[in-house]
Amino acid sequence: MTGLNDVLLVHGGTPLEGEIHVRGAKNLVPKAMVAALLGSEPSRLRNVPDIRDVRVVRGLLQLHGVTVQAGDESGELVLDPSKVESANVADIDAHAGSSRIPILFCGPLLHRLGHAFIPGLGGCDIGGRPIDFHFDVLRKFGAVIEKRPEGQYLEAPQRLRGCKIELPYPSVGATEQVLLTAVLAEGVTELSNAAIEPEIEDLICVLQKMGAIITMGTNRTIHITGVDKLGGYNHRALPDRLESASWACAALATEGNVYVRGASQREMMTFLNVFRKVGGAFEVDEDGIRFWHPGGPLNAIALETDVHPGFQTDWQQPLVVALTQASGLSIVHETVYESRLGFTSALNQMGAHIQLYRECLGGTPCRFGQRNFLHSAVVSGPTKLQGADLVIPDLRGGFSYLIAALAAQGTSRVHGIDLINRGYENFMQKLEKLGAKVELPSTD
Ligand code: EPZ
Repeated sequence: MTGLNDVLLVHGGTPLEGEIHVRGAKNLVPKAMVAALLGSEPSRLRNVPDIRDVRVVRGLLQLHGVTVQAGDESGELVLDPSKVESANVADIDAHAGSSRIPILFCGPLLHRLGHAFIPGLGGCDIGGRPIDFHFDVLRKFGAVIEKRPEGQYLEAPQRLRGCKIELPYPSVGATEQVLLTAVLAEGVTELSNAAIEPEIEDLICVLQKMGAIITMGTNRTIHITGVDKLGGYNHRALPDRLESASWACAALATEGNVYVRGASQREMMTFLNVFRKVGGAFEVDEDGIRFWHPGGPLNAIALETDVHPGFQTDWQQPLVVALTQASGLSIVHETVYESRLGFTSALNQMGAHIQLYRECLGGTPCRFGQRNFLHSAVVSGPTKLQGADLVIPDLRGGFSYLIAALAAQGTSRVHGIDLINRGYENFMQKLEKLGAKVELPSTD
């Protein structure tokens, strides 16, 4: 359900122009906050964006006795875990459905308290999003897990022990689960088929600063030697490459020109190559990246999402909006989430021509090809988009609707904009700064 103040009126047709600032990565910051639980001393995390996922984790940490305070600089948090304690189950449960991060509290709480309670998880509805890998991993470390109506109870009858783990798929969350558990487990953990996203590397940097011993080997293998105690860290979160790419796609789709201060080339190389192939222009300097539409037609491309260093699934939805403006047939094969193309039906209502397929189009067969999921798309362009009534389905899909509404002729009513606050800091102010014509509907 969405209320009136959760609706945004977007008057499209104006190119986005100007500069915005992107801070630390949504997919690192909450995890680094959880890591602070493992330490015996306070930690300092800098470049923290003010987004809902950060607030949820802050609340959960505070329930467990961690003090979380603003530091001296803007976007700095100081987390003190010296008085970690059990939290009231009903209080934890109040966070049910708010985010996927609570699952990562398991290892640290088992180490600190010997038990943990995990409420029902939230997160974007872009596929089944099971947590079987997480629980399989925790059992291997020696945790005992009991499913109860209100959530999952976990216990560590003795100190958790290092083990050999091979993930069925290089899952980001399951890799983080292993890292956050193995660092204080007894002995060595060998993790194969690990995720190696830049946010994982940054989490490893955080843990290493705390005193952990982690070696990244070749071929997705990570070795962790457990230690008895960890200290605090002082860390500046890597920039949000997903938010940066979203603004880049907004610049391209609206024929605009946006300087994203804080964007970093290293973590965006794959995106930048694709952006250039589509016909977008960019220029990298020390402080950020400028993205713009250089004029003339955009090019259709064949694209397959994949785990890092492939094309990140979270870049797919905003880029698809830009592809509606490219000349010819673009093919998109989504291989990470089985249901991340459903957002395209609203784009079709706006005038786009996007057809979904169950087959693995244009690339290597993936896990979803035999399983009847609509996970490939053919985008035929260029198409003129018209304003429409849109209901935001998930975080990236939601931002993509904003891009489509900005690129369209006429006015769109975008419902459910609060969801975007989960991962995009101050997006309304940023839109206004870039000259977007957006307004909250009047209440009279
Ligand atoms: C993280 O989700 C990100 N979320 C996602 O960001 C991102 O899309 C994803 O990694 C992939 O990069 C956060 O970091 C909070 P996964 P995560 O485990 O860890 C399957 C965004 O918009 N799987 O790598 O939950 C799963 O169903 C988002 O910012 C299992 O089968 O993703 C999926 O098909 C959304 N069993 C695949 O693995 C499990 O136990 C990859 O998921 C776990 C995962």
